[in-house]
Amino acid sequence: MIRRSDNHDLSAQNTFRMKVSCACYIEYDTIEDLKSLDFDSLPKPIMSIGEGSNLLFTKDFEGTVLRSCIDYIKYFDAGADKVPLAVGSGVKWDDLVAKTCADGMWGMENLSLIPGTVGAAAVQNIGAYGVEAKDIIAGVTCFDLQTRDKTAFKVHELRYGYRDSLFKDPEFKGRYIITGVLFSLSRVPSPKIEYGALKKIFDGRQPASPMEVREEIIRIRREKLPDPEEIGSAGSFFKNPVVSAAQFAQIAQGYDTVPHFVLEGGFVKVPAAWMIEQCGFKGVRKGGAAVYEKQPLVIVNASGTAAPDEIVALEQEVIDAVRAKFGVELHPEVEHI
Ligand code: EPU
Repeated sequence: MIRRSDNHDLSAQNTFRMKVSCACYIEYDTIEDLKSLDFDSLPKPIMSIGEGSNLLFTKDFEGTVLRSCIDYIKYFDAGADKVPLAVGSGVKWDDLVAKTCADGMWGMENLSLIPGTVGAAAVQNIGAYGVEAKDIIAGVTCFDLQTRDKTAFKVHELRYGYRDSLFKDPEFKGRYIITGVLFSLSRVPSPKIEYGALKKIFDGRQPASPMEVREEIIRIRREKLPDPEEIGSAGSFFKNPVVSAAQFAQIAQGYDTVPHFVLEGGFVKVPAAWMIEQCGFKGVRKGGAAVYEKQPLVIVNASGTAAPDEIVALEQEVIDAVRAKFGVELHPEVEHI
């Protein structure tokens, strides 16, 4: 079924709680619904959203916002170690993680409590605690707005990178509407507990179940990250920058230690949270916007009624401060619409 609403208030469709509207808002339940839509007559541009947990609407949107409510979770369990699982793009990501963990399947547990939908997870290649969505995605099914028909991609065709995919490439952006994602999980215990905080918790011990890891992840995230039900945000606002070894040496001058991760080719990923904290922005509030006091990578709608301009002004201040102090350009992770 298709549900359409014109001049729609998007407050409930973005976790930053920006009070903006779109010319047309459409929810659909099946691929057949998409096929039946007269796209030519819809206000342009057309964009797809999940739960709007990684978006910042900077003003009213003059086009059409599409929201998948395609809702199925289907195992293709043949008893092998690897268990394929097909999921509708409208399923809430954390509901899926909760279910697969309860089913004793390994693979998604580190990605617990991330807001958003399954479709959005595949666009954004969500990641946390040493695991990225691409590690468990096998393929994606889509509706192609160009051919107005179904199409499918295997994971190796999706150009996955750090919070990046083919769906974000300017050449393809907006062309494909994700309708379903195929995952490959494991019934064989395969915990990934090398990430700092998890390593400390498990301390050489192997977790007994994916649910045990999920519970720890939920605890860590609740300590650090704002609950989108209580305070508006879009999770990490900036990407962690990757710099050369020489640049890192410059950044580290004058500090005893700087948290960092060495990547292939000698490049170094430096936590933006650390740089923002060093610039004195942790917990700083400007107007209705604030840098979150427990995790400065997150910008929050502190007043609950912050305008997009207030968020963008604080974003720019943080970018300018980090550039001035460290010579590093921060790039937003949150998509600006
Ligand atoms: N740090 C500080 N000060 C702080 C907080 C953190 O200096 O107040 C430093 C610490 O050294 C810490 C390091 O930053 O070790 C990394 O912090 P954290 O583990 O919280 O992770 P992050 O790099 O800030 C990334 C993801 C998160 C994900 C966590 C955990 C990005 C943009 N963000 O954040 O993803 O949950 O790792 O894996 O890569 C999101 O994308 O919305 C998101 C929340």
